[in-house]
Amino acid sequence: MAIIIDGQRRVFTLQTKHTTYQMKADAKDVLLHTYYGEKTDSSDKSLLIFRADRGFSGNPYEVGKQDRTYSLDSLPQEYSSFGMGDYRITSLRVQNKDGSQAAELRYAGYRVEEGKYGIPGLPAVHAEHGEAETLVIRLADAYSGLEAELYYGILEEMDVITRAVKIINQGTGGVVLQKAASMNLDWEDGDFQWISFYGRHSMEMNFQRENIHHGIQAVGSVRGISSHQYNPFVILCEKGADETMGSCYGFSFVYSGEFLIEAEKDQLDRTRLVCGIHPDNFSWTLQSGDSLWLPEVIMTHSRDGMGNISRNFHRVIRENVCRGEWKKRRRPILVNNWEATYFNFTGEKLVDIAKQAKELGIELFAMDDGWFGNRNEDSSGLGDWFPNEKKLGCTLQELAERITKEGIQFGIWVEPEGISEDSDLYRKHPDWAVGIPGRKPCLSRCQWILDFSRKDVQDYIIGQISELLSGIPVSYVKWDCNRAICDKFSGMLDGGRQGEFSHRYVLGLYRVLEELTGKFPEILFESCSGGGGRLDVGMLYYMPQIWISDTTDAIERLSIQYGASFGYPVSAMGTHVSMVPNHQTGRVTSLSTRGCVAMAGTFGYELDISKLSQEEKDEIKEQIGRFKKYYNLIQNGDYYRLSSPLEGACTVWEIADPSGGEALVSAVYHHVQANPAPVRVKVQGLKDGADYQLVLDKGLKEKCPALPYGFGKGEVISGAALRQVGFVVPGAVDGFQAWQIYIKECEA
Ligand code: DGJ
Repeated sequence: MAIIIDGQRRVFTLQTKHTTYQMKADAKDVLLHTYYGEKTDSSDKSLLIFRADRGFSGNPYEVGKQDRTYSLDSLPQEYSSFGMGDYRITSLRVQNKDGSQAAELRYAGYRVEEGKYGIPGLPAVHAEHGEAETLVIRLADAYSGLEAELYYGILEEMDVITRAVKIINQGTGGVVLQKAASMNLDWEDGDFQWISFYGRHSMEMNFQRENIHHGIQAVGSVRGISSHQYNPFVILCEKGADETMGSCYGFSFVYSGEFLIEAEKDQLDRTRLVCGIHPDNFSWTLQSGDSLWLPEVIMTHSRDGMGNISRNFHRVIRENVCRGEWKKRRRPILVNNWEATYFNFTGEKLVDIAKQAKELGIELFAMDDGWFGNRNEDSSGLGDWFPNEKKLGCTLQELAERITKEGIQFGIWVEPEGISEDSDLYRKHPDWAVGIPGRKPCLSRCQWILDFSRKDVQDYIIGQISELLSGIPVSYVKWDCNRAICDKFSGMLDGGRQGEFSHRYVLGLYRVLEELTGKFPEILFESCSGGGGRLDVGMLYYMPQIWISDTTDAIERLSIQYGASFGYPVSAMGTHVSMVPNHQTGRVTSLSTRGCVAMAGTFGYELDISKLSQEEKDEIKEQIGRFKKYYNLIQNGDYYRLSSPLEGACTVWEIADPSGGEALVSAVYHHVQANPAPVRVKVQGLKDGADYQLVLDKGLKEKCPALPYGFGKGEVISGAALRQVGFVVPGAVDGFQAWQIYIKECEA
């Protein structure tokens, strides 16, 4: 049983394989948070809450005269609200019909539901029959009639608990939600650090680890998209925690729009975490009887370090977030023409790339930006989803057929949320572009954004894109969005409701994606927002992979992919081998290094094949063969970070089969040194009692003049030795050298 309820004491304990979560409705009907961490029993942990009279932390009226130790400002709570004596960051701030900003949510009942709850119109973790249970706790404010239903989805085997909230106005008057977070989590103790991921366009997911200090620290987005700047994913951990040791908590917000994740260390050195929609661009009116679902948060805990946190997220995303045919199906190895041609191509050129790609074993050709409307540069054409037949030299259908006849699948790029000032769509529907009446909206990449909060716009896009995809043999769609959103305003919302725009935009986007991916289940959709502008679990519910950065430089990609690996699986990360000198950095790395780095993702190419030498073409054929050979291991195995790109000379990661029968270790020298020190790595996920051989693939082996002990000479090493002592990565022969070492259990 994942949910244990002590009805008499009103204690609710949620058990997963290795964790326990607990809350309790106390005698005043306040829902206390009593525990989250390493698995323990279901006894009432509220007995461990320490209370004292804290001056200037007031007491609810009903206890104020007898018990000054009872204060909402110091009690650990499950869902905190603003205005009634809790002065910390809170999860809910409302404006009542009398203008007051206060809510006093008290326990009002619970129910248990079979399976995992779903959220209408929003992405959420899903589960097979018997895989999950749901607990719903109802809180109510007697004064206003506002209710909050707290949803908990327990995926026992996955060590995952999800949270979501439904706010319902059961009162008689309107209420305005000014802040409505999806979760609150209080810790009674713990000297935590927090790990967050910051960045910018082309340099996303930089790892940052800081102490949680007194005051408030936060990451968030007010950009309409989850953003390149901060990812909606954080880890809280003990100070000494590392990849394999220490208590860690992971939180991923299942949402693709504006978010805020805040942590506060309070006057009593206790930590509170609040995660939800960013309140700066948010207000939502609930008339009597209205309700609003708030997006989901996925939580996991491990007492054994961050590696487990990541693997828990990888598993739950692969199995319980991604849906449809492409969840399990092998994804094609693709070539994309963006860095090969940018806007400068003809149909002939595309067919030529596709044809040559096919000869190398590439399975899909993806036609990127520039095929439609008047789109020969990025300042025009967005919105006109009609092929530029003059540029292509034929109809789109003819082009797609010519390419598929070569024996390679055809894919297409679209940016349905974008609109150019210079487009027929804008000339026809200027009011469909997001902007504030009377003001000139800010341009970004010379473009605007379509108002996806409007149903007529959503319907139009569903119609246009459906028509486009129905007319051609298409196997893949890259869904791009190349700007952040400002000038927020919708002509369909009245003045008092403009604060709903950002969330309504995301709901509109989700509706469009649900319709289109449902209508074309056989098409593989890849999400993109100028690379990682929308790298979030919300998008992965609709599209199983995301182009995580516009940087294709292999060495820069090491830290981007390292950061992304904390919260996202290999199967979700779009990764390509591109030309050198690299277009973003000018750096030259070997094809072998570029291949190795790209193999830590969905794997593909983004280059002009006609510019490659025969030797390079042969190497690409070998890479494709190698990737296919290890496909299942790479995409579905357990991921371990063995050495970070942020220190030392060599980045090393490992993907092991969950059975422990095989593993692939990839190592890339990111720092080229003279007379380098040996790089030793300790392998994880193998069986202590089994024997293994270390193998360098043909091609790689030939490149390595001096193989360290243990390689390729038939030596057998035990799993225990590989775990405890490890092995030395072959040295760097040329700059930024990469190695892939396959570890195979010896047959009995
Ligand atoms: C941004 C994407 O991230 C690139 O890969 C490419 O598709 C361009 N947009 C096209 O405009």
